[in-house]
Amino acid sequence: MLILFCSLFALYLWFREARSKDYFRNKHVFITGASSGIGKSLAIHLATTKGARVSLAARSLNKLEDICKSIQKKGGSAHVIHLDLCDSSSFTKALEKSFQGFGNIDILIANAAVNNDGKCFASLSLEQIDKVIETNLRGTILFIHLVLMNMMKDNRGHIVGISSLAGYRGLPMGSIYGATKAALSNLFESLRIELYCSNVYITTIHPGFIDTPAIQGMKHPKLFLLSAETAAKKIANAIAQKKYTYSFPWVMEHIVMRFVRYLPENVFVPLLYLVTRKNI
Ligand SMILES: NC(=O)c1ccc[n+]([C@@H]2O[C@H](COP(=O)([O-])OP(=O)(O)OC[C@H]3O[C@@H](n4cnc5c(N)ncnc54)[C@H](OP(=O)(O)O)[C@@H]3O)[C@@H](O)[C@H]2O)c1
Repeated sequence: MLILFCSLFALYLWFREARSKDYFRNKHVFITGASSGIGKSLAIHLATTKGARVSLAARSLNKLEDICKSIQKKGGSAHVIHLDLCDSSSFTKALEKSFQGFGNIDILIANAAVNNDGKCFASLSLEQIDKVIETNLRGTILFIHLVLMNMMKDNRGHIVGISSLAGYRGLPMGSIYGATKAALSNLFESLRIELYCSNVYITTIHPGFIDTPAIQGMKHPKLFLLSAETAAKKIANAIAQKKYTYSFPWVMEHIVMRFVRYLPENVFVPLLYLVTRKNI
């Protein structure tokens, strides 16, 4: 019985891997925030093991050049695109450059974001608040809009938004960041309905704690922390399966967040206060 179960599971993993490889092969995947963390790992994974042609977009050109070279050394295809989500006047130029290199975008992974550095709302300056909203929301939404218009012309494409489990409920020290992630997940749900009868697919990813520079300064415990490489593999599989939403790690989504999500406010508020009050 155990041998049968293990064989079926191995077959399922093989099939999932093969389907995932087919989905990305020769596709033009545009990744925002590809210079670090999850975006970098996704770019390397998709270009070197799945045969995707990857546009690596971010502001840090030196970091992107290094990642691009390491992908090309391993036989993968990638090029570097300068993109600042806080400067919407540069979006058209960035897209044109990516079209010239690899043609129309098949898959956009809207991954770039910044957080509120673990600070309470009242400790943030107006500039810090603006930066989070500008990057995670305004810039990301305007960029997605431009790419979507192109995808709709061809009636094909896939847009993936990297949101966060932090968007499920308001959390201390995550006020503005969580609000932008909740808004992104909401936007993606609307798009999914509006595009239901088209060949443009919409996927929302909600990661838990992933070991990247973004959370290195956080003081509270990082439950069920995963590496960026593991996260990239999980995200790639979810995209290849055209999932509507994918939240991980499993324990965070199905146990911790489910519990947190449905707690009544009069329990949730004092409980979270007690757990986090040292850092507030
Ligand atoms: N790490 C986690 O625990 C975790 C958990 C849940 C969700 N997420 C989400 O996962 C995604 C990736 O996060 P990460 O942890 O990998 O963060 P990260 O290592 O800090 O990477 C963030 C990326 O965003 C880019 N970026 C920042 N501001 C930008 C701007 N104005 N224009 C263009 N690119 C910009 C950065 O590149 P440049 O600085 O070179 O521009 C960098 O490549 C984010 O959406 C984040 O919210 C992360």
